[in-house]
Amino acid sequence: MTDTTAAGSSHDSEGVALAAERRWTIVVGVIIAVLIGMMIFTGLHWASMPPSRVEKIDPRTLHVSGEFVEGNLGTSVGSDGSVVVRLIAQQYSFEPQCIVVPAEMPVTFRGTSTDAVHGFVIGTTNANVMLIPGFVATFTTTFRKTGEQLMPCHEYCGTGHEAMWGRVQVLPPDEFLRKASLAERMNCVSR
Ligand code: CUA
Repeated sequence: MTDTTAAGSSHDSEGVALAAERRWTIVVGVIIAVLIGMMIFTGLHWASMPPSRVEKIDPRTLHVSGEFVEGNLGTSVGSDGSVVVRLIAQQYSFEPQCIVVPAEMPVTFRGTSTDAVHGFVIGTTNANVMLIPGFVATFTTTFRKTGEQLMPCHEYCGTGHEAMWGRVQVLPPDEFLRKASLAERMNCVSR
């Protein structure tokens, strides 16, 4: 008698386990189907319509004309008060090598590369971008802390990659604006 009960209950628990596993199979199957569906949708959607704000630029004429000529690189403050940093990356340096930005103000970076794929990340901030020849990379960020941050290249770009660094000086807003009133384009490269 006891034997039958034991057998019966073990049979029941097996049934419960099977049902639970079947439920999980269905849940996991639905999750996989949704993910594959999302991949197919975004793949087709992006193929037919590239993401907005793709800005192209001819890397062969960067030094000669346009936004990224040497005299236009560095930090500038627009008539509306917007802060824009323009920089280029090349094997194996950034131009300018030292960038001045204000704290607590939105700063827009615009950068591109003249040769290989480069990139940079600024210290412990979330400013992080790839610089691809032929395209302008842009993002806007706000620095919370003043002080100097390191800006290493983080895309392997050749034998000099590990020596490719820049610096970013984050100044208090009033000090930055005082500097900005003295020069149209700013950097902190020591001369
Ligand atoms: Cu430039 Cu790595």
